[in-house]
Order: sequence, then C-alpha cells, then structure tokens
Amino acid sequence: MKSAEIREAFLRFFEEQGHTRVSSSSLIPGNDPTLLFTNAGMNQFKDCFLGQEKRAYTRAVSSQKCVRAGGKHNDLENVGYTARHHTFFEMLGNFSFGDYFKQDAINFAWTFLTGVLKLPKEKLWVTVYASDDEAYDIWTQQVGVPPERMVRIGDNKGAPYASDNFWTMGDTGPCGPCTEIFYDHGADIWGGPPGSPEEDGDRYIEIWNNVFMQFNRTADGVLHPLPAPSVDTGMGLERISAVMQHVHSNYEIDLFQSLLAAAAKAVGCTNEDQASLKVVADHIRSCGFLIADGVLPSNEGRGYVLRRIIRRACRHGNKLGASGSFFYQIVAALVAEMGEAFPELTQNQAHIERVLKAEEEQFAKTLEQGLKILEQDLAELKGDVVPGDVVFKLYDTYGFPMDLTGDIARERNLTLDEAGFEREMEAQRVRARSASSFGMDYNSLVKVDVATEFTGYKATSGSAKVVALYKEGQSVDVLNEGDDGVVVLDQTPFYAESGGQIGDCGFLKASSGRFDVRDTTKTGGAFLHHGVVASGSLTVGSPVDTQVDADVRHATALNHSATHLLHAALRQVLGEHVQQKGSLVDSQRLRFDFSHFEAIKPEQIKALEDIVNAEVRKNTPVETEETDIETAKAKGAMALFGEKYGDNVRVLSMGGSFSVELCGGIHANRTGDIGLLKIISEGGVASGVRRIEAVTGAAALAYLNAAEEQLKEAATLVKGSRDNLIDKLSAILERNRALEKQLEQLQAKAASAAGDDLSASALDVKGVKVLAVRLDGQDGKALLALVDQLKNKLGRAVILLGSVHEEKVVLVAGVTKDLTGQLKAGDLMKQAAAAVGGKGGGRPDMAQGGGVDAGALDAALALTVPFVEAGI
Ligand code: SER
Repeated sequence: MKSAEIREAFLRFFEEQGHTRVSSSSLIPGNDPTLLFTNAGMNQFKDCFLGQEKRAYTRAVSSQKCVRAGGKHNDLENVGYTARHHTFFEMLGNFSFGDYFKQDAINFAWTFLTGVLKLPKEKLWVTVYASDDEAYDIWTQQVGVPPERMVRIGDNKGAPYASDNFWTMGDTGPCGPCTEIFYDHGADIWGGPPGSPEEDGDRYIEIWNNVFMQFNRTADGVLHPLPAPSVDTGMGLERISAVMQHVHSNYEIDLFQSLLAAAAKAVGCTNEDQASLKVVADHIRSCGFLIADGVLPSNEGRGYVLRRIIRRACRHGNKLGASGSFFYQIVAALVAEMGEAFPELTQNQAHIERVLKAEEEQFAKTLEQGLKILEQDLAELKGDVVPGDVVFKLYDTYGFPMDLTGDIARERNLTLDEAGFEREMEAQRVRARSASSFGMDYNSLVKVDVATEFTGYKATSGSAKVVALYKEGQSVDVLNEGDDGVVVLDQTPFYAESGGQIGDCGFLKASSGRFDVRDTTKTGGAFLHHGVVASGSLTVGSPVDTQVDADVRHATALNHSATHLLHAALRQVLGEHVQQKGSLVDSQRLRFDFSHFEAIKPEQIKALEDIVNAEVRKNTPVETEETDIETAKAKGAMALFGEKYGDNVRVLSMGGSFSVELCGGIHANRTGDIGLLKIISEGGVASGVRRIEAVTGAAALAYLNAAEEQLKEAATLVKGSRDNLIDKLSAILERNRALEKQLEQLQAKAASAAGDDLSASALDVKGVKVLAVRLDGQDGKALLALVDQLKNKLGRAVILLGSVHEEKVVLVAGVTKDLTGQLKAGDLMKQAAAAVGGKGGGRPDMAQGGGVDAGALDAALALTVPFVEAGI
C-alpha cells in the first residue's frame, strides 16, 4: 500500500466512525507561545481539550504535518542514525473531545490495524501506563492481546508522571496516560520489546500512541482534571508505511525514494544507503515545509532552528562530497513527491529554493574556516570530551550549531561538554531571548470562564453588564477610584488586540463611576478591558454604557484596510513569495513586515502606492463574509501563518478579488474612506524580511503637508521658490565646487610661500640642512607637499614638519636622496611619532606618522638635530 493510500484509508475509516476530517494546521502553532513548532496532531485542538473552545464536532480525524526539532519533543540528533526518527513527519490521528474514551479508542485502533490494514495480530505489542488497569483489562480481556505481549510502563524518567506512557504536549498543557502499539519487525533486527534493556533497538517500533487526555498540567507540576476526559491519538505515517511496505526502515518507503535519489544526484554520490544521505533527505522535508509555512533562517527562535537544520544538511552533503550549493536542488523532488497533498509546497517552490540557496552560500563562507579551527582544536585535544568553550567559539564565531559540532565529534567517538557550552551561552543570552519566550506558561494568563459577545463590527457604543473584575491578576468584586484593573463584560464593542490591530480604547460609564479603557485584549472567549477607574467605583453585576474612542478606531480601521491593499499590491509588484511576517496597525500608521530578499526600489515603492491608491479611488465596498475555512481557502483567501482560525472564519474582500484575506479586524466601509496611502519608509528587519511603514487618511495628508512645508523652507533658505528650487540648489552646489577648487589652489600657493620663508630658517648640522618646524592647522597632505618643496629648495637636507590638526598630531619627515644611505626618513619618523604617543613609517626619503599627544610635539621636533648628528 502506498503512503497516500494509507493516509486516505485512515481518514476514511475514522470518518465512517463519525469523525470530522480536519486539514493539517500550519507548522507554526496558532497563537500558542508555549510551542516552537506543531509537534503533534492534537496541537490545533489544544483549547478543545482544555474546554476553552467548542467546535461543531466532538470527533475529529486529521493527517498533521509535524516538526520535532527543538523544544520538548526534539528528534534532530537521532535523524539519519535510526530507522524511524525524522525532523518532519506526518501524524495520522483521531480525537475525541469529551466523546468516547478508552474503550472505543482502543477498539478503533485495533480494528484499523488488524481489520483494515490486516496486520498480523501476533506482531503487535501493547504498552500501558503502569497503573492504568482499565486500559490493561480492555486490551487483555476484550481485545484479546495475550499478557505476554502486554507491557506496563511506569514513571521511568525520574519524576512523577514522567514516563514513556504518560504523554505531555510540553511543560504545561493537556496530558494523560497513554497506551502504545508496537510492531515487531522480526528477529533478524536487533532490539528488545518496550521496557526491556534493548528497547532502543529497531526491532520493536512504536507505531501508534493513544493518549487518554485527562489533565491540564500547570507550571507548578500539579495536574488539574480536564472538564471532560478525551482522546488524542497519533500514528506516524512513515512508520506505518514501512510496516505496510514490508521494509524495516522509514527511509525505504515510497515517500523517500525520489528524495534519496535527488539528494544523491545533487551531492554527486552513488550509494544511497548512507546515514548522511538520509539526513539530507529528511532535512529537505522539514526545511521545505517550514519555509513554505513562513519561517526564515535567522539567529533566534524558530528561524534559528531552521538555520540549524539547513546547516546540518549542508555539512552532511559536504561529507558526501557535494561541492557548492546542493541542498536547494532537492526542492523540486520534494515538490514532485508531496506537492499534491500539500499545495503550499508547490506555491512556494521558487521561494524555498531561493531561501535555501542564500543560506547555503552564507554558510559555505563560514564552514571551511570553522572546520579548520575545529580540526586544530581536536588535534590538541586531551581526553575524549570537546570543551564547552571550543563548542561555543565555533557556535559564536563560525556559526556552527552545537549539534553540528556534536555530529563531527560523534564521528570520532568524542562527546561535547554541553554544560560548559550552556555556561558560555548564559553570557550571551541576548540571541536566545526570543526563543526563550516559547517557554511561556500557558496557564499563567488571567483565567476567565466567560465568553464576551463582540458587537464592535457594527457599533462603537452600547450597554453591557460587568461580569468580572481583576486587580493585579486576582478576581475582585469591586474596583475603586485610582485602581488599575481589568473589566470583563457580557458584551462589548471594544475590539481586542489581534491580527496586528491594536485593541480599542475608550471608557465604560456606570452609575457609580467611570473606567477609562486604555487597551483591550482577549483570553479564550473573554474580552479584557485594561485601564483605570477614573472616578467612583465599578462593581461586578453593574450595568455600564460602553464607548469606544471612535476617532482612534476609525483611523485604525483605515490603516488596517490599507494594509490588506498593500499586501495584495506587494504580491503583484514583487511576486507571490511575499508573505506577511508581522503587522502592526494603530491609529497613526501601519507597519507591515514581509518576506522579500532585497531592498524595494524607488520605482517599486511608487508602483505599490499607485496600485493601492487606484483601488482607493475605485471606492468599492469592503465586504465581509462568514464561512468555513475550506470554502474560504477555495476562494483564494490569504491565511496568515501562526494565526489560529476556528471552524468559522471571516473573509474580507476589497475590490472584488483584488484582496481576499481571512481577518477578524475592523475595517473601512469602502476603500475610498482610506483617502490616500503614502509609504513613509522601507527597510530590512532581518535576513529576508523587509518592513514598510505607511500612513493613510488624515495622517497621509499631514505627512504630505509637512513635506511641502519643508520644501517651502528650503526654497526660502536659497532665496527661491518651489518651482526653481532644484535649479537654485544645482547652482549653489556648482559654485561650492568651484570655490573648493579655488581654495585648494590658494592653500598650495600659501604653502609654497611658507616654504620659501621656512627654508631660510634651516640649520646647518655637519653640512646637512636640518629643518624641524611646527605648522599647526595644516593637514598631512599640505605637509607632504611642503616637505617635497623644501627638499628641492634645500638640497642635502633632513626635514621634519609637525602640526596639530583636528586635535591630532600630524608628522611628515623627508630626507634628500643623497643622504638616505646614512639617514632614513622612516627612522626619524619612528622616533618622532613615538614621542607623541603614536606610530609612523614610510620610505627612506619620505615618511608619515602621527599621534595623540599634542603637548609633546615640540619635543618630538627637537629630536631631529640629534638624529642627524648621530647618523652623519
Ligand atoms: N499526542 C500524542 C503523540 O504525539 C498522540 O498523538 O504521541
């Protein structure tokens, strides 16, 4: 059975059991700061398990793209060295949200494996959490798995609930005991059953994990029961394909054949059965999918993990003999293999190739140098541990991720001093700052069990009831005058910050007092109004009148709509690779970050403005439609990576199909409301990411007025008008150049006259004319010219000129040719420059130098006579 057929059989089987088929979510988890990458099918359903989100269904099935590199579940180091680990894989999963539990989950899994896929029962082993008698009994008594193929596994990882059979998504979040199904690949492969000392071998391979989601783990380690026991299962598509295709290694399945062949071709090797080639074939999948989902290589967070994977692939390619950039050449094979199931790959092929090629080229520059350094360090190494400071130096100076150094070390039976490396890293935490934000505790947010109804698409005011109040994060019954706090209402017109648009401000008015709202955010279904009690007090239960600051809201809405138009225009002008990387919309301006590899040219800026302003002038209505995500995608709606969308989405269109995006934000009524868009800046914010800032409406007009004022001011300064400003400025510049030339000529004349005067003051030392003079204010160029002149005039002479120019000492020495056998200008200069705390040198007949100690200049000049006396 082909992998695609297995995927489809799985999805169909569970659909027949009442499950709703749900598409894979992005590899960038939607609005989840606790997670680096999507690492399991359950991620997109996290809030359903926690009871914070209700969907139209209670049973779901999906095939989810996952990356396990970095974060809690990290397989990067194992890839290439085992038969079953990947950085990228597809996870087939079925889910129950408070619907069925252990019994049905176990029966479904068994029926699918033995009934649909027809796996021999005697090849299957099962593990359960040690204390989970219920699951054990279902397996042995109802399903009929013999006890000798059942294994109970307890807390085997050094802490309570730290077990192979207790699954947690991260340090916090939903978790529970699990039961895993293993496949026995046969006695000719080394390895023992789960729980045995040989379990790490490749003979018994876990193919399916059924997690009984029962708890939410908080940062203090406490397990809180979930509102309803649920089920989360995951089966790696690659592993089950290996079983079905009667091969032992995942790398032998159909999905990998063309990738391995393309990798071999790109690096120019013939043997496809090498660990390094598997690494390359695996890594092109994670890199391709991550870039398609909007990640770019960088020095922090997700971008840094991507960079590590790319660099690891490059290194393994180099080991196989690749010369030049090779990795990007494999993208075409990836697209051919997986582009049908994942169209985002096809759409982004050129972009993925460009990103990989640029990263490979950058890495090639540092790799060679870094490898040399590492070789040197390894040659001097005593013992078999590479010290932390060497690992850090390679990381910091040569861009070697630790796992890359680890790979090289492993090939020589060496290990790394990881603790030492971490210590060095502590001193350099700046880079990791953004990565560490992924450790945020999901449960630390204000917990409010309320769903606020949002009325703000149509209104900016209304009435509501206070349903909860918070002060310093704690729930309170009343907020008094001067208190900073959070107000939760049953309904509100205040927009809560999301999708780049800032939260609304305004005020709430109760009969007992007034609360000024500075900002609005959202947690779960509750809208949090942040602010201060301006007068009186506010009590839970009291009715309030709500009033959004309508001017701020209106200006913000124009900027938001203009952002959509700009996004569409960027894709027209620069290409389809443009993806939103960040956006901030407030009442003053809009800021839009997007993927693009070079600075935007002035003519492109103009084209962007022209396109957007043409749409503005068309004054078409801004249309919104609520629909399901699949219909929205079919309409070509642009979805944002890292944004979480529920079942029902809001599609926002402008100019018909000119701009179609998923967006929950507040917008103009018609494009004409925007008035005018003016781009005010363009620049780079990270490798491959550009930023445009722009203004609209009244702010755009104010910006143009200010520019006009500047123009007028400039015209006044040059005594001209707007019309002849350029001519006037050109004339002034020309005159300036002419004056500079004149000045130069005058200076040369003055120096020559000074030379005449100076030559008269030369001393005679043993038949040599010696001249050492201070000429403050002259620069090095003037002194050089003068020394040349004086040499001509004086004949057999030694000259040293010094000056204090712009607070520094400048020195020039000259010796006529007939004397350079005995006296060298460079030697004199060395002494003189040292005396003024600096350095100097040059030819025997002419030398230059300088220093910082102006007070010592006279003493330096006084060295000339003794120098001549000593040398003649
Ligand atoms: N979440 C579980 C896992 O990743 C089951 O899907 O193994």
